[in-house]
Parts: sequence; structure tokens; C-alpha cells
Amino acid sequence: MVSRTSMFRSFVDSASRSLKTKTPSLASIPTSAGANYARFQNLSKDQQVEVLSAIKSLRSYKFHAQDVNERRKSLFTHLTSKQQSIAKDAGYLQKLKLVDEAIEKNQSFVDDVADFTIEEYGVSLKDFELIENAKNSIASGNNFRVIEALGHYTRDWTTGSLSPELKPIFEYIASQLEVAINFKQKKDTVLVFPGSGLGRLAYEFSKWDYGAVYSIENSGLMNSFVGYNYSKQSTSKQHTIYPYIHTNSDYYNTESQMRTFEYEPIGEASKPENLHIVNGDFTTFKIPNRDKYKNVVVVSVFFLDTAENLFNYLETIENLAKPSGNVERGYWINAGPLKYGSAAQVEFNADELTKARKALGWVDEQSVYTIWDPLSVGSQTGLVGYLTDKESMWQGYYGLNLFTTSRKENKSYKV
Ligand SMILES: C[S@@+](CC[C@H](N)C(=O)[O-])C[C@H]1O[C@@H](n2cnc3c(N)ncnc32)[C@H](O)[C@@H]1O
Repeated sequence: MVSRTSMFRSFVDSASRSLKTKTPSLASIPTSAGANYARFQNLSKDQQVEVLSAIKSLRSYKFHAQDVNERRKSLFTHLTSKQQSIAKDAGYLQKLKLVDEAIEKNQSFVDDVADFTIEEYGVSLKDFELIENAKNSIASGNNFRVIEALGHYTRDWTTGSLSPELKPIFEYIASQLEVAINFKQKKDTVLVFPGSGLGRLAYEFSKWDYGAVYSIENSGLMNSFVGYNYSKQSTSKQHTIYPYIHTNSDYYNTESQMRTFEYEPIGEASKPENLHIVNGDFTTFKIPNRDKYKNVVVVSVFFLDTAENLFNYLETIENLAKPSGNVERGYWINAGPLKYGSAAQVEFNADELTKARKALGWVDEQSVYTIWDPLSVGSQTGLVGYLTDKESMWQGYYGLNLFTTSRKENKSYKV
């Protein structure tokens, strides 16, 4: 995954530097396999590594987060005693104490997610040998990923109405689906959400009577959080999350930094039946029983720019949506910026992407550059946030390329 919150990286890097020989404890991991171990055995090696790394990251969150705070305390001792005294009176050390306490509280939520994942896959201590020598490059194996996932709750799982980040995107997708899909064919329509993160959009559209909604995510860590959201273990639980405590930068006051987010998981019984959570790489995804459907719609949100080879994504979307068998119509709805990662093999701007779509047999119904058409997202700027803290003195926003495109092979609806 391409991180949009690189500011966390510096904290994590400095934490790793300050770690000496101590390693986070895996002491609470069971010593023998659980009832669901076959599920783990049926995963690919990559998926197994993702699951184990996720559990290890979740269990180690407090260790790493408090280590960063310890380093702050240690740096503080470099001040003169007079400087320390003034800072203490200003509330600085009390703030660091509150951060430590908030990390404890986050860990208790994160522990529930780790416990769920351990039970879900029946893994035990010996399985962790698989990742013993794994390098830091494992996607879920870094604390900043846990921190980032905690931040995602404010984007995805606001109680009741959608967050200001997701609302304009939801409205765009909803309006495009209304136009593209004949309402009589909702049950004959399958929606595919690649790189769905914590999965709120997929959840919302699964309440709209479509035949099936696939929410596809390859990060083991994200999948642990998503799995927990729809589990019997999370049913009727409530969690208080402190998403903003991992940096001291750009706050006006401590209250702002200590804001909490109240999260109520969906629970097992309330998971829509047509919503399918897929833990895996989108580029290997095939729609189960595809011939059951007449319409396929791929919905990519803040996703395209995560590709190393964008053409792999384009081919996958084409293969999923191109009419064949009983599928008569294929669509692709996109909402996102184009902020590429460090290893992208091609870095298209929006105009180039439009031409590539055309060359690959897509016929655009609509394409909007929100900065030039801000009303399309209901604002004066055309910008939307992504994990943007609206109380921070530093805030990042994105212009989006919204487009809806259909396959040139699409059959028209019979009237
Ligand atoms: C920038 S995030 C956006 C998440 C979500 N769509 C949202 O808007 O909040 C991109 C997500 O895509 C996932 N991802 C990246 N490559 C993937 C792939 N090949 N298959 C499935 N998920 C992938 C990442 O793990 C990450 O969660």
C-alpha cells in the first residue's frame, strides 16, 4: 500500500533506531493450533505472512508507540533544568503522560483485533517462525501501518452518517450507479471494490440490494480490522480510539490531540449477506459464479495509484468487467487522485489515463477533474481529505479524478 501519511514514517524510523535488543512480546500467542487452523493452512504463503505480520504488528503497537514517547522524554533531558522546569509548568510532561495512557487504551482495542485474528486462523507460536527473518518491507509489519489503520476509523466508521471524506465519493458513485444500472437489474449486478481499506463504502453499497458486493483488500492488517468489524467477537462492543496521539506536531492544544473516536463494530449478525470480504490481491481476483450476473461494476476509490504496474490493474478491471458468458455490461467507476508510490512503472496523469482507457476498449460516460469542477464534489475547492485531521495546523487534501466508463462491448438494455 502506498502510504498517504508519510509524516508517521519519521516517527517510526526514529523508534526503530532507538530500539536496542528488546523485542515485542508474543507471549500471549497460543502454543498450540486452534480450531480454525485449516483456514490458515489454506492460505497462500504470502497471505500467511500477511496474517502473522498483522498479529505481530497489532501485539507490538504499544511497545513501538511508547518507545517513540520514551525517546521524546529522553530528548527532553537534553534541555537545561530551567528549560525543563518551564516546559513542565507549560504542561509538556503531562501531555507525554497522557499520550502513554492513550496508547494503552488503543492497545486494548488493538488486542481485541489481534485476539480475533488469532482465533480466526487458529495460529500458534510456532507459525511465527515463518516471519522471524522477514524484513521490515512486509506491508503489515510496521507500526506506522497500525497507526494509519487507527486513523482510517475516522474516515470509514463514523457512526450513522458518512465522514466528510467519504460522503462526496459515496454520492458520486451512487449517482453513477443509478444511471448505469437499470433498477430492475440490481440483483443481477455485482460490485467489486478493489483496495477497499476498512471497507465502509463496500458496506454502504451492499445495503442497496445489489446481487453481490466484493470488498477486496490485500493488507493482512487491514483485513484483521475488517474481519473483526463483522465478527461475533465484536458484536455489541464499543471501542474508544485515540487516532491523533502519534505526533505532537501542529496541535493548538492537548485536548485537540487527545480527541477520541467512538467505534461501534457492525458485528456478525448485521453484516449484509451479499457483502463478501476477500483477503487477497485484487489482480488475482475472479468473480465467483460470474455467470449469475448481467452487470459487473468495478469501483476503485483512492486505489489506482497504489499500482506498481498500472496496466496490471487495468487488465484486471477489464477482465472482470468485459462482457462474456452471461455478463452483458461492464462498468468502471473511479474516484481518487494520482499520487504514485516510489516504484510505479508508469505514472499517468489524468489525461494520459483517459487515453489509455480508450485504447483498452473503454468508452467514457463521464470524467471530472474536481479541482476544475469543484461543484462536482459540492465544494468551492474541489478538494477532499484523506485521513485529514481538521484540527491540525497541517492538513492535506486531494483533487480527484472522478470517472465512469463502460466497456465498448456492452449490450444496450432491452426496453
Ligand atoms: C490508499 S488506500 C485506500 C483505501 C480505501 N479505498 C479508502 O479510500 O479508504 C489503498 C488500499 O489498497 C490496498 N491495496 C493495494 N494494492 C492492492 C492489491 N493489489 N489488492 C488489494 N488491495 C490492495 C492497500 O492495502 C490499501 O488498503
